[in-house]
Amino acid sequence: MIHLISPCLEVNEQGHLAISGCDTVELAAKYGTPLYVMSEDEVRRVCESYVSSFAKFYQGNGCPIYASKAFSCKEICRIVSSEGLDVEVVSGGELYTALQAGVSPAHIHFQGNNKSYNELVYAVEHGVGDIVVDSLQELQLVEKVAQERGALVNISLRIKPGIDAHTHEFIRTGQIDSKFGIDLASGEALEAVRQSLSLEHVKLIGLHCHIGSQVFDVEPFVHAAEVMIDLYYEVKQRFGLKLDHLNLGGGFGVRYTEKDDALPYENYMEAVSAVLSRKCQDMGIDLPRIYIEPGRSIVGEAGITLYTVGTVKEIPDVRNYVSIDGGMFENPRYALYQADYTCLVANKAAMPADYIATVAGKCCESGDLIQEHVPIQRPQEGDILAVLTTGAYNYSMASNYNRNPRPACVMVSHGQSRVIIKGETYEDLVRNDL
Ligand code: LLP
Repeated sequence: MIHLISPCLEVNEQGHLAISGCDTVELAAKYGTPLYVMSEDEVRRVCESYVSSFAKFYQGNGCPIYASKAFSCKEICRIVSSEGLDVEVVSGGELYTALQAGVSPAHIHFQGNNKSYNELVYAVEHGVGDIVVDSLQELQLVEKVAQERGALVNISLRIKPGIDAHTHEFIRTGQIDSKFGIDLASGEALEAVRQSLSLEHVKLIGLHCHIGSQVFDVEPFVHAAEVMIDLYYEVKQRFGLKLDHLNLGGGFGVRYTEKDDALPYENYMEAVSAVLSRKCQDMGIDLPRIYIEPGRSIVGEAGITLYTVGTVKEIPDVRNYVSIDGGMFENPRYALYQADYTCLVANKAAMPADYIATVAGKCCESGDLIQEHVPIQRPQEGDILAVLTTGAYNYSMASNYNRNPRPACVMVSHGQSRVIIKGETYEDLVRNDL
């Protein structure tokens, strides 16, 4: 039997894959395919576990921030904020989405390595919780925008701590050669603090770092926390400035296949809090407020994508192409990163997975594959194929390539389903064409 990865998934009495009590074959029949399906129960379970580890390890002094780039839409913003998470945004569009969802601006954190003047105006006018400044140049731009509006803007500084997390090079961010952040080793970080203090319209309240994504080791997170608390202390010693918080970023790995050995998120929290407490005690300072910024681990395992199998092309001694009605336009992660996924035939979920398939999309590209050489149940036209762990960086990275409409997203909870994002129509595709 195929390992089902997430606690929200099971094989039901009909031998079908079910998610949060909903039969996926029925979901496919009711809503059509391709279809993104998200389990509200699983998203809430993970949010609760992060919030309760803040209570346990930091006496509630801090909170998780949902990195909405993983899946930005109104309903997910509403769900995570109802669980007590703040929301991180990296563009005017994500900010708009969070505001439209009713997230309080004070609980929104604005990131990004090249925020535009207009995006900064938008963030300042809405009074976001903080703007995470990514460079000395951006510091001046934030000051200019704040000055023009007569505002005092809370800022944090994104620091490049010089830590190499062991993950795919495209999603590694904490090392020196990175487009993100202000360099620590060269003294640029302290210079940014000095300049912030000399500016009238910004108020420096925190330090931030993010070392990478889909990281399984605890050690780089612990190392980053050590580096950042040292900097926090140095800022206090040199400038007499007691900052409000440290934001230690996201990046905790999730399970795509049974080979992924994801730790309970509490393990990261425990290890990081232990090192921070010890260092603060040694330095004789109080522990600052702590934020973390997970995206993938909040929504990743809660999501699956359902497809209908079309053509099955068996090329003897080469491979078996199983084509589906989706592809890189709604999940570009294999094409981009050769990302692993678990696939199964949802209407045959209880049967043995003894067929080796290359799951191919319908775009006009040979590289439009969802997965190569994966074991699935023997497929035939009309079967429903499920790809697991698609809750993060799938909908948010989807495109209209080949003028394919983006699929709908359905939220499921305790056996009930509802549409949270409508599928695009052909009319939507030409809406902006003149
Ligand atoms: N904070 C910052 C500043 C980030 O840049 C990111 C992710 C996160 C938090 C959330 O990291 P997470 O907990 O989701 O790992 N498209 C890629 C992932 C890009 C991640 C970018 N930054 C993928 O599909 O694997």
